[in-house]
Amino acid sequence: MVEKEKVVFKNLTNWMIKEDQKPLGLSKLSKTSKKKKNTVPHPFLKWAGGKRQLLSQMKVFFPKVFNKYIEPFVGGGAVFFYLSRKNLLKNKTILIDINPDLINCYNVIKTDVEDLIKSLIKHKNEKEYYYTIREVDRKEEYENWNSIEKASRIIYMNRCCYNGLYRVNSKGYFNVPFGKYKNPQFCNKLNLRAVHSALKNVKIINDSFKVVLNFAQKGDFIYFDPPYVPISNSANFTSYTKDSFDKENQIQLFNVFKTLDNRGCKIVLSNSYCDFILDLYKDYKINTLLAKRAINSDASKRGKIEEVLITNGF
Ligand SMILES: C[S@@+](CC[C@H](N)C(=O)[O-])C[C@H]1O[C@@H](n2cnc3c(N)ncnc32)[C@H](O)[C@@H]1O
Repeated sequence: MVEKEKVVFKNLTNWMIKEDQKPLGLSKLSKTSKKKKNTVPHPFLKWAGGKRQLLSQMKVFFPKVFNKYIEPFVGGGAVFFYLSRKNLLKNKTILIDINPDLINCYNVIKTDVEDLIKSLIKHKNEKEYYYTIREVDRKEEYENWNSIEKASRIIYMNRCCYNGLYRVNSKGYFNVPFGKYKNPQFCNKLNLRAVHSALKNVKIINDSFKVVLNFAQKGDFIYFDPPYVPISNSANFTSYTKDSFDKENQIQLFNVFKTLDNRGCKIVLSNSYCDFILDLYKDYKINTLLAKRAINSDASKRGKIEEVLITNGF
């Protein structure tokens, strides 16, 4: 065995071996393993407002040294998975979101990833089947579904629905139409197992962002990515839950930000570039990023748009 191949083999993690069931031939391994290792874990759901495309602009504003990492609007978790991939989460991590379907997915991946995979591979990318699965939350039988089946339904629909989206109506029912994709990847075993590993020492909480006040201490890194203040009707996506996130919530969030600043936390916050936010956070450091607008049914309106990344100057 040449020296280079030996090193690559030694560095293989458990999830890679599990993914392939039996070890790959060494020559194949040396070509692919480095790439795989750098590409997982990633968000397992497509999520409106997901920060994946902005990470290269954001990372320069993250603190270099911190204690706990807390993300009170975790959504698809692009920032959490980035920090995890880069091995920057040395201490305890807490992920919070008010969406119960989403948090159930995190919990199931953390505790039952193999059963989740077994459930996911049974789904079919067929229109009639999709709508049967989508309608289940309107029926009584849904209460008898276990948490694994519920997580599997959400992950499957997220990949097979139009535009890959989580959106509910005012009653809390999932309402995105079928997406007609040729080969949607609703069971990415490699990534699910990597996410499972990344969640090992993570506390996952289904609650409002305000509970961050119960956990955050001096030196902790808090990243807030709330539903944005809408800057136009077409750019207004706040349907993560049946309740919207209004200006009153934005002000409550600002008060939490101030409290955590006084405690000595290292805070980073995303929001839209608009007078309301610029004025609210005028005493803090406001940086501007350029983002692609992905959630717009009109493709011609998916151009670049400014948004803010605010820090408390740690
Ligand atoms: C912009 S998304 C976060 C996207 C995430 N950063 C990502 O990369 O995918 C906002 C999230 O806030 C959650 N949310 C809405 N209201 C909330 C509240 N009051 N407390 C906590 N989370 C809330 C939504 O469920 C949604 O997941």
